[in-house]
Amino acid sequence: MQAIRIIREEHQSLAAVLHGLQYLVREIRANRAEPDFALLGSMVYYIDTFPERFHHPKEDVWLFRLLHLRYPPAKELLVRLKAEHRAGAAKLQDLEQALVRYQQGGRGEFALFGGAVDAYVAFERNHMRAEETEVIPLAQKYLMPEDWAEIDAAFLDHTDPLLGESVRDDFRGLFRRIVNLAPPPIGVGPVHA
Ligand SMILES: [Fe+2]
Ligand SMILES: [Fe+2]
Repeated sequence: MQAIRIIREEHQSLAAVLHGLQYLVREIRANRAEPDFALLGSMVYYIDTFPERFHHPKEDVWLFRLLHLRYPPAKELLVRLKAEHRAGAAKLQDLEQALVRYQQGGRGEFALFGGAVDAYVAFERNHMRAEETEVIPLAQKYLMPEDWAEIDAAFLDHTDPLLGESVRDDFRGLFRRIVNLAPPPIGVGPVHA
């Protein structure tokens, strides 16, 4: 069950970026830091590409579909989580738009951006918690070895059909860049005045 390990790892990476994003927002809100738009932009780009384009769709198509097949009583839970994938994408679009407005419009636009970050972070944390505490235990109980073979193959193969190359390494690189750009305690980058 490599997929479970990969899903948990991807949740951890996403949680780390969400934590970083929320930390930066708190620092700006408390007037302890100026916005670092390169860093904020990298974080939002990471969330928009890896989790939104690869992680959630694979859960829908493989994990949720097969669990529903093997254990129909999970339907309500799986329909809800699938709907959250769509709602999360919409919330992230709001957040991206709020970041552009903040960058262009300045301080007056910060409240909207900060609110969008807080809403998105809370939403995604709840979502990941439900997957880890409700979906994964059910999957471990009801899925068959042949289901896991399919799910593992899907989660191990992070190849972008358009780019035709493994994107997993690209996103590891991006994640590392975020960590390197970010000041402590998020990352190892320089401390900004
Ligand atoms: Fe999900
Ligand atoms: Fe997930």
